[in-house]
Amino acid sequence: MKTINPSTHISNTLFDTDEVIHRTFKPGHRCTLFYGDCIKLLKTLPAGSVDLIVTSPPYNMSKEYEKTLDRNDYYLTQKKIITECTRVLKHTGSICWQVGNYVKKGEIIPIDIMLYPIFNALKLQMRNRIVWHFGHGLHASKRFSGRYETIMWFTKSNDYYFNLDPVRIPQKYPHKKHFKGTKKGQFSCNPKGKNPSDVWDIPNVKSNHVEKTDHPCQFPVALVERLVLAMTQDNDLVLDPFMGTGSTAIASLKNNRRSVGAEINKNYCAIAKKRIHMTFNKSIRIRKLEQPIYQPTFLSVTP
Ligand SMILES: C[S@@+](CC[C@H](N)C(=O)[O-])C[C@H]1O[C@@H](n2cnc3c(N)ncnc32)[C@H](O)[C@@H]1O
Repeated sequence: MKTINPSTHISNTLFDTDEVIHRTFKPGHRCTLFYGDCIKLLKTLPAGSVDLIVTSPPYNMSKEYEKTLDRNDYYLTQKKIITECTRVLKHTGSICWQVGNYVKKGEIIPIDIMLYPIFNALKLQMRNRIVWHFGHGLHASKRFSGRYETIMWFTKSNDYYFNLDPVRIPQKYPHKKHFKGTKKGQFSCNPKGKNPSDVWDIPNVKSNHVEKTDHPCQFPVALVERLVLAMTQDNDLVLDPFMGTGSTAIASLKNNRRSVGAEINKNYCAIAKKRIHMTFNKSIRIRKLEQPIYQPTFLSVTP
């Protein structure tokens, strides 16, 4: 199959509405990509209209797409956006806020700890603090190298939608059976697979990852896909206020959910649009969750 690098195919018409990607939201649209500030998009969404919000906000780390804010200003900006997200979320819906650390002069400030009080004050209920572990990143010399980030999963009520079955992983001993008692002879574990737990080992999108574009901080589509499959149903609406290269839209559309999101940077918006088109025409390359993770051994090192 011919593959296209989404970073290098940006046409002039990318910011026009086309037959599949709309610029403004309507509930009947399958996909909306708003080019601009997410607050403007959020104001156009009706209260209680979104089933799932998955996002990775800016970390306030002077990346090329962000202006570093004073810590309090960063907090207040996030508060405003999280408050709007809560307004648009359905009673049965979930919010997944994926964050790492804010690092200043070698001191780390975990963004989940910083932002938790905002969610708590909005009466959202935390269901998991998922640890996303990955193998690549900066090599620290005066502390241990950071190799995980977190996903804070909150629901709006106790009546939230969650289905483990589409995201179960293989059991370690799938054929093991009870050897005594009333269940003798029956499988002792769920033959459909086990709960993937709250620690996820998924490679991050670095230079040789098949999903890599020119964006410095994409999250892998497989990470979002697990959330989409467990927390939504067919045709549900998934929102990403910080769309970047469209990873949330890809995971949603690929699984027959509706997608809406905003991206303020023109180049990333163009990359997202290209990748969404590639999702619709099935030419996008995604790293599958079940693909084994490369394990180096000492024996492979030549002195
Ligand atoms: C951490 S990145 C998200 C990357 C995304 N998860 C992906 O996989 O490509 C955050 C993104 O938010 C965008 N952004 C920052 N402030 C924004 C705002 N107020 N409204 C919309 N997008 C914004 C940045 O340009 C950046 O692309």
